[in-house]
Amino acid sequence: MIGIFDSGIGGLTTVRALMDVLPGHDLIYFGDTARTPYGSKSRETVIRYAIENTEFLLEHGAKVIVMACNTASSVATEVLMEKYHVPVFEVITPAVERAVNQSPRAQIGVIGTRGTINSGIYERLIKEKIPTANVFSSPCPLLVPLVEEGWFDRPETRMIVKKYLHPLKIRQVDSLILGCTHYPLLKDIIQKKIGKNVKVIDSSVAVAEKISRFFADHPDMDQLIEKNGKADLFVSDITEQFEKTASTILKKKVFLNRV
Ligand code: DGL
Repeated sequence: MIGIFDSGIGGLTTVRALMDVLPGHDLIYFGDTARTPYGSKSRETVIRYAIENTEFLLEHGAKVIVMACNTASSVATEVLMEKYHVPVFEVITPAVERAVNQSPRAQIGVIGTRGTINSGIYERLIKEKIPTANVFSSPCPLLVPLVEEGWFDRPETRMIVKKYLHPLKIRQVDSLILGCTHYPLLKDIIQKKIGKNVKVIDSSVAVAEKISRFFADHPDMDQLIEKNGKADLFVSDITEQFEKTASTILKKKVFLNRV
């Protein structure tokens, strides 16, 4: 199985993208809904949660780990790669690679949680590729709870998105990285508010395509993954709203299992 985790249900956007590119591969997802959000927690705490989540997925048969959470990806990647002898994917590098290729003037905007933006990881990785790039970052702490509540297209959500994007819009960025796995659910509003000429980069699609290429290049690893088109979805806390939002993200009625 491909094991995927996030701090909540936003990481299901990565599950959705994986289902599109690898429809047969069995998946197991863990959303840490009881301890969300990670974006406002300390680095040490997020690393501890990432280790616990990884162990849960490995115990349940995952052969590959995908951190479908930018906050965890920005602080826990090295720890997980050193600690576990399975391939570990994070969502930041694939989005950076895409953004640098799609930003002719190297003016790149990034939005994410406070944890992700404060880690400075996007700016560092972009500048490793294009030292002269200008990176404009904006933390958007209110967007995760709006998504978890299923407020995808409310006037309040549109107003908040507009306010958060204003500083990036006046910089006239070429591309805008959605540096949080919850944000693809707001992609239409974000695209409208930032302007149609700006390339909006969805990290869930970028990482899914990277994983698909990985399996094509490593048939030995691909063979380890059962292919029954199954997706087991676990969360650490469950509410009716979580199940509703999860079904909206995966575009079908789904049931979550509480662990
Ligand atoms: N999905 C997480 C991320 O990609 C954000 C949610 C949180 O703050 O826990 O950063």
